[in-house]
Amino acid sequence: MIKLSGLTKAFDDNVVLNNIDLEIKKGEIVVIIGPSGTGKSTLLRCLNLLETPDAGRLAIDDIQLDLANASEREAIELRKRASFVFQNYALFANKTALDNIAEGLITVWKQPKAEARATALGILKDIGLAEKQDAYPASLSGGQQQRVGIGRAMAAHSKVILFDEPTSALDPEWVDEVLGLMKQLARQHQTMVVVTHEIEFARDVADRVIFMEGGRIVEQGPPDQILVNPVDPRTREFLRKVLKS
Ligand SMILES: Nc1ncnc2c1ncn2[C@@H]1O[C@H](COP(=O)(O)OP(=O)(O)OP(=O)(O)O)[C@@H](O)[C@H]1O
Ligand SMILES: [Mg+2]
Repeated sequence: MIKLSGLTKAFDDNVVLNNIDLEIKKGEIVVIIGPSGTGKSTLLRCLNLLETPDAGRLAIDDIQLDLANASEREAIELRKRASFVFQNYALFANKTALDNIAEGLITVWKQPKAEARATALGILKDIGLAEKQDAYPASLSGGQQQRVGIGRAMAAHSKVILFDEPTSALDPEWVDEVLGLMKQLARQHQTMVVVTHEIEFARDVADRVIFMEGGRIVEQGPPDQILVNPVDPRTREFLRKVLKS
């Protein structure tokens, strides 16, 4: 359903992504792990054109893009198919939980307001936050804010949801409720690409784990293979460090 080829991105002379190819099947849960500064966020951001790469072609659903030369209209069509969940939630502070979810439906999908708000309320019910519909982000816990962030992505019925370290800004007490919601999505066969340091989540939920380093995919495969019996010494070294901490 998604085919990325030749993705390359440099910031000045710092080559952050080096000719990355990636195919993702419908319903697949892909978890990306790797050391800090390795290009994981940049990869996700390029997939949603939050960052413009130097080269790369992307086929997703029924559209094909030259990512380096995409028009604003193509970027919008891409974002209808791929939603982004940010580490720091990125909610609108001056909008309620309900309106945060409805906003994209109104602006991107051009839905009438009443319809968008009805859809948003349905999503809030699904994620167990219906009673918080009128709450502003500042009055929600981190876990609740991130669930709204995920609800926003769910509302768009995206072909794929891109998660960039969705739990790493959370107090430990809220991590499980967010991972729980992501597991719920996984059971519904929502296609997802998740950058995370939650190795246990990767083991339980991923269909495929990708280990990245230095702007390249070093190795990938089923969780058992990559997390238990990695072949590459760099993967082993990384796992030794994260599993120790
Ligand atoms: N906007 C930017 N301008 C310049 N350099 C950038 C920019 N964004 C990222 N970089 C550089 O690109 C490299 C990869 O960064 P990226 O954020 O993709 O890494 P990451 O794998 O997500 O790391 P982390 O695990 O710490 O989140 C780093 O060297 C970073 O300094
Ligand atoms: Mg990152």
